[in-house]
Amino acid sequence: MDLWKTPERVVLVTSNDTDGVPHVITVGWKMRTSFKPPMLAIAINNNRYIHRCISDTGEFVLAVPGADRAETTLGCGLPREGDEDRFEKFSLKTEKAGLIKSPLLIDCVANFECHVVNQIETGDHTVFVGDVLASWVNEKPGKNLIIAGESEGYELLAENEPYKIGVIK
Ligand SMILES: Cc1cc2nc3c(=O)[nH]c(=O)nc-3n(C[C@H](O)[C@H](O)[C@H](O)COP(=O)(O)O)c2cc1C
Repeated sequence: MDLWKTPERVVLVTSNDTDGVPHVITVGWKMRTSFKPPMLAIAINNNRYIHRCISDTGEFVLAVPGADRAETTLGCGLPREGDEDRFEKFSLKTEKAGLIKSPLLIDCVANFECHVVNQIETGDHTVFVGDVLASWVNEKPGKNLIIAGESEGYELLAENEPYKIGVIK
């Protein structure tokens, strides 16, 4: 696993709880699952708060962060201090999505609005399969962020053992 797990593109996922409060976390485990209709899947640890949000609301936004969001992307993947609001802490600007309630992250390279069509328990994570209802792309896309491996060829932008976030040089 250690030899195989990186590099891996990394994304942010948002979803609201049943009170309408938005949450955001960093996700490395994601994949496309269909061209027509466009679909994608994310694997979320069963203990994450956002797991309940996605299960309850049946929706999420997958946002693709660019190089300018390396610290945010690392930070949204580290344990929260108390009740801290990650949107405020990382100055994450949101916008209302077109077809779902989970917020878009407007500084990201792209945003995908997803409606959950399938939910599969896969051990300690659940795979949520989403139908992409709408997608948004930033007019000036930068390089996609990745979880870097040990080899050369990456520009590292944010680090916290064991995570190294960066871009391909
Ligand atoms: C680079 C990176 C990738 C991650 N990938 C995933 C993932 O694919 N699935 C997941 O459930 N958690 C993943 N995590 C962990 C969560 O983002 C992290 O536990 C987050 O703090 C959970 O939010 P919560 O404290 O609000 O529940 C990742 C963390 C990092 C730093």
